[in-house]
Amino acid sequence: MNRLPANPFTDPTMVAGYEAWYETSGRRADRLEKALLKRLLAGFSWARTLLEVGCGPGHFTRWFGEQGLQATGLDLSPPMLAEAARLGNLPYVQGDALALPFRDGAFDLVALITTLEFVPDPIQALAEATRVARHGLILGVLNRQSLLAWRRKRSGEALWQMARFFTPTELVCLVQRAAAGKWVKIVWRTTLWPVWPGELPLPWGGFIGMAVKLVSYKEGREK
Ligand SMILES: C[S@@+](CC[C@H](N)C(=O)[O-])C[C@H]1O[C@@H](n2cnc3c(N)ncnc32)[C@H](O)[C@@H]1O
Repeated sequence: MNRLPANPFTDPTMVAGYEAWYETSGRRADRLEKALLKRLLAGFSWARTLLEVGCGPGHFTRWFGEQGLQATGLDLSPPMLAEAARLGNLPYVQGDALALPFRDGAFDLVALITTLEFVPDPIQALAEATRVARHGLILGVLNRQSLLAWRRKRSGEALWQMARFFTPTELVCLVQRAAAGKWVKIVWRTTLWPVWPGELPLPWGGFIGMAVKLVSYKEGREK
């Protein structure tokens, strides 16, 4: 039986192997997820700063930095943050996605990449992300109605048994509830199709990439 501590992301074996996954069996997923995220980021060409919430070992935080953003990572897990600091020279902060230690509008963008699946209250995490973001959110979430999610659940691995997957429609509803009182423009696509090598505007790919633009009330335009 595959046992994990209450927070699996403090498990030293997982922390040590996490980054290596992107170089081995996760190489295709990494390439396709980044291609989709890059497309979504293009909608925020004026953005300069980004906070990645649930940054783990900083794999995507470093990539956001390579895209020209001043990127900061935040995570609850000290061993993950230690690994992120070992792998890259970016600012990393320990904190909780449910109560971010930053003022309103502190970053142009806030990203959560495969993090919502593991927080106890996804709406609160999204509400905090929209509070701290000036212009918008970039979300990467595993799709509940995909072959990938079905395989992950079926694997029996403890990590995937505790994960909560969402469909694109569910994710849109969560964002709209979390952003209550703010106008949002939402764009999404999915990737990690079994055969197709790119992304599609169809709701069955394994990984959902979603851009959420925060729009100001008064001017009816992006903040
Ligand atoms: C599946 S990993 C994703 C890591 C990274 N974003 C990536 O895709 O490579 C989820 C991360 O979320 C973090 N996490 C879980 N709950 C959290 C919370 N309440 N606040 C901050 N981070 C959290 C975990 O410690 C873990 O590093």
